[in-house]
Amino acid sequence: MSTAPSLAGGVSVTPRHVAIIMDGNGRWAKKRLLPRAAGHKAGVEAVRRVTRHARAIGIEALTIYAFSSENWRRPEEEIGDLMGLLRLFIRSDLAELVRENVRLQVIGDFRRLPADVVSLIDDAVARCAGNTGPILAIALNYGAQSELARAARRLAERLPPEQIDEAAIEAELETRNLPPLDLLIRTSGEHRLSNFLLWQAAYAELLFVDTLWPDFGAADLDAAVAAFGSRQRRFGGL
Ligand code: FPP
Repeated sequence: MSTAPSLAGGVSVTPRHVAIIMDGNGRWAKKRLLPRAAGHKAGVEAVRRVTRHARAIGIEALTIYAFSSENWRRPEEEIGDLMGLLRLFIRSDLAELVRENVRLQVIGDFRRLPADVVSLIDDAVARCAGNTGPILAIALNYGAQSELARAARRLAERLPPEQIDEAAIEAELETRNLPPLDLLIRTSGEHRLSNFLLWQAAYAELLFVDTLWPDFGAADLDAAVAAFGSRQRRFGGL
């Protein structure tokens, strides 16, 4: 859409675009002496709760980090579990997303996922294509540095260097159709961006919470929105 901030000054409003680094599934499981897969399964429940609540409170776009380009370093079994959960999520929740007028979008190099997952995604995105409501963007095999490198390569093929400016780069990003990122939340007490939406986070409010992702719910999203509303956003001004 544009780099223009969605509000100026400290006016309390609902953020238009929220992104979440859903961290802590493994620790949640460990605390309960459960296998890591159980943490990821509980993480999907949290995805369901939080996406529903985000719609209910009028967040226009929610971007969730479900699988990073670095997650391939995990054991094969865990990658398989995550892919399995993704399959299940699409199969079980697509009807609701269609019914709720959600525009489903995937960012990242998802075509490198297993072929059946890629076709499930293609089909799900196609079935939501006519929708006009809130956007759910799922980041899969996503890495911000590679997103930026790809954008730079495409622009270099097409434009002379002097025409490659911020707006041109922005227009090549996979989030180009989303409102500017207002709020980026990371759960589980880690204070890193882990290669997520690095360009888009330039003026986002960053919120790091200790809650482990499977424990995150509607009240936590409300608290995050309230924290966002209480911050003074100056966008480099005074
Ligand atoms: C981080 O927890 C979480 C992930 C790597 C994956 C997030 C995935 C889900 C919530 C489930 C799949 C999503 C969908 C949309 C079906 P971690 O394993 O790094 O936790 P830890 O740091 O405590 O070990």
